Amino acid sequence: MKITVVGAGAVGATTADNIIRRELAEEVVLLDIKEGVAEGKSLDMYQTAALLGFNTRPIGSTNDYEKTKGSDVVVITSGLPRKPGMTREELIGINAGIVKSVTENILKYSPKAIILVVSNPMDTMTYLALRESGIPKKRIIGMGGALDSARFKTYLALEMNVSPNDIHGMVIGGHGDTTMIPLTRLATYNGIPVSRFIAADKLEKVAADTMVGGATLTKLIGTSAWYAPGAASAMIVESIVRNQRRIVPCSVMLNGEYGQKDICMGVPVVIGKGGWEKIINLRLSDAEKAAFAKSADAVRSMNAALDA
Ligand code: NAI
Repeated sequence: MKITVVGAGAVGATTADNIIRRELAEEVVLLDIKEGVAEGKSLDMYQTAALLGFNTRPIGSTNDYEKTKGSDVVVITSGLPRKPGMTREELIGINAGIVKSVTENILKYSPKAIILVVSNPMDTMTYLALRESGIPKKRIIGMGGALDSARFKTYLALEMNVSPNDIHGMVIGGHGDTTMIPLTRLATYNGIPVSRFIAADKLEKVAADTMVGGATLTKLIGTSAWYAPGAASAMIVESIVRNQRRIVPCSVMLNGEYGQKDICMGVPVVIGKGGWEKIINLRLSDAEKAAFAKSADAVRSMNAALDA
């Protein structure tokens, strides 16, 4: 098994670090355009092997795609992150160019790779990668819902003062501050609806905090987050390479599911060795359906900006 992570910035390096610690592949190639950065970070990470006891070898590369040859899974994190006050949507122009050229280069050397898109605005970048590459749709997955769901579970756990591990919950829809849909109605604590533990107004606040979860961190840190994004990306990679068939909300191409077509958006999918293997059709309430349709309108208008 060979995995490539493109972009050795905050999210890419953290993703690679999570992957090597879990020994998800024999080799992990970390690639970046900045001279020496991927090599340096890979060597730094490899020096933790003697301390932590893993055997996966990270290999750095400054834009030499030949080193990525034969990768089974590729994570694309290259591109600008947002700064305080910026929306993910404002990154579209520059990141579209980066994601397009990276996808082309990757497929030249790894035509069978499953691609996980992380760069923002993620739903549009996933759509672009699929449109430009023409590879089967099940091999292109966008990472957003996994992160947003982890934030949702964390805010629920904080509100209840319990372990996030006992909380189940999902965020679907677009990966944007106003487009994501935390499914509060379906969230549970040990199988019991969280609405039995949290008052309606507090639950609404949890949902609102989840939606601006990324912006809150960007304001505090000065740039966007990396620990949870890296862990969320590695979790999806693990479900692919170990064929775990976990259900994870990911941005995938819809063809009538959830009432949408020709758009990549976050819905629960089974993730296994073939990429996303099937979409789980949740029975949504009328309000949730309306929120999904509104979210789709926003994602669609962003996709239109690709051709503007
Ligand atoms: P960063 O600035 O730390 O790292 C980005 C790296 O990409 C830089 O090292 C840069 O040199 C590299 N890069 C730029 N163009 C490249 C190219 N053509 N080929 C190879 N490498 C290239 O940014 P960070 O924080 O790692 O974020 C990366 C992306 O991930 C951003 O677009 C950010 O908005 C997005 N993101 C997405 C999340 C999600 O849930 N989908 C969560 C967090 C970040």
